[in-house]
Amino acid sequence: MTNKVIHSTNHLQTFKNKENFATMKILILNGPNLNLLGTREPDIYGSQTFESYFGQLCSAYPKLLLEYFQSNHEGMLIDKLHEVGFSYDGIVLNAGAYTHSSIAIADAIAAIQTPVVEVHISNVYRRESFRHHSYLSANCAGTIAGLGLDGYRLAIEWFLQR
Ligand code: DQA
Repeated sequence: MTNKVIHSTNHLQTFKNKENFATMKILILNGPNLNLLGTREPDIYGSQTFESYFGQLCSAYPKLLLEYFQSNHEGMLIDKLHEVGFSYDGIVLNAGAYTHSSIAIADAIAAIQTPVVEVHISNVYRRESFRHHSYLSANCAGTIAGLGLDGYRLAIEWFLQR
């Protein structure tokens, strides 16, 4: 089976299997500064780029339609939640620092129908106290923190098994 990855200018990648058929649609949505994964504070976030990790995920789940979108802008993240939040089966969201500040993203998660799993690469509870509170968690199905990039895979596994 050959995989197809489509790149576009706004950090969007779409994956479909060869038959253009997907059993489930899952969006991975990354917020501010996560475009710099691989070079950003590697002692905290590791040295792998998200694009490279996303390629691995696509290979590991050839029957899923996996989409990846990243933005540094709060409104763009909200627009994306609205866009897929009534048709996709799952959203894996790492809102970055907006986690700790954005009532607007929390409201967007509450407004949509697609369940959202919150992911943090680092263990936010071992870090500065301002990272201990998430405005998003109460509106999410669950939260995975501190397990590195593998947290995204674990979130996908939850969507597959629910
Ligand atoms: C993060 C944790 C946040 O506190 C931080 O602002 C990030 C990344 C994580 O994945 O560990 O940008 O969400």
